[in-house]
Amino acid sequence: MKKGTTIYLYELAWILPSIAIPVGMLAALTVTAFGAGIHLPSVAGRVDSTTLATTAPFDKPGLTQVSPDHYVVYLTGQVWTFTPNEIRVPVGSTVTFMATSRDVVHGFMVHGANVNAMLLPGQIALVTTRFDRPGSYPMICHEYCGIAHHTMGGTIVVEPRS
Ligand code: CUA
Repeated sequence: MKKGTTIYLYELAWILPSIAIPVGMLAALTVTAFGAGIHLPSVAGRVDSTTLATTAPFDKPGLTQVSPDHYVVYLTGQVWTFTPNEIRVPVGSTVTFMATSRDVVHGFMVHGANVNAMLLPGQIALVTTRFDRPGSYPMICHEYCGIAHHTMGGTIVVEPRS
């Protein structure tokens, strides 16, 4: 083998993966976004965080059943808790969270479920997930929101159907 050919192959061993990797990532992005329907939590609207206590639906945060297997949770984050702080749904339920913050920026993550959003004052976050396994799922604030940030959490209890 000539020396020039060896260098060419060595370069090709770097050039081809550097083309293949971004092409593969683009393909994975396309498949997950359009095929599997995986999206970032969307912005469902705007709300005045200073008048949240008198603005529907956040004046009455809580769980609402909208169809046999579908629930909506109107949720607020505030220093240093979520309202509601405990949510109970039967296993197999699809749960849509419509959430916002009363004060500062909070995070809203449900450990073990496909829920990870930021709660920004003035903005409504909308995220939907399905709970297929019974158990206790912690709700966690993952944006630093002050001195007791580490205590800000809650629980989603997914109950077995009898
Ligand atoms: Cu709320 Cu950290």
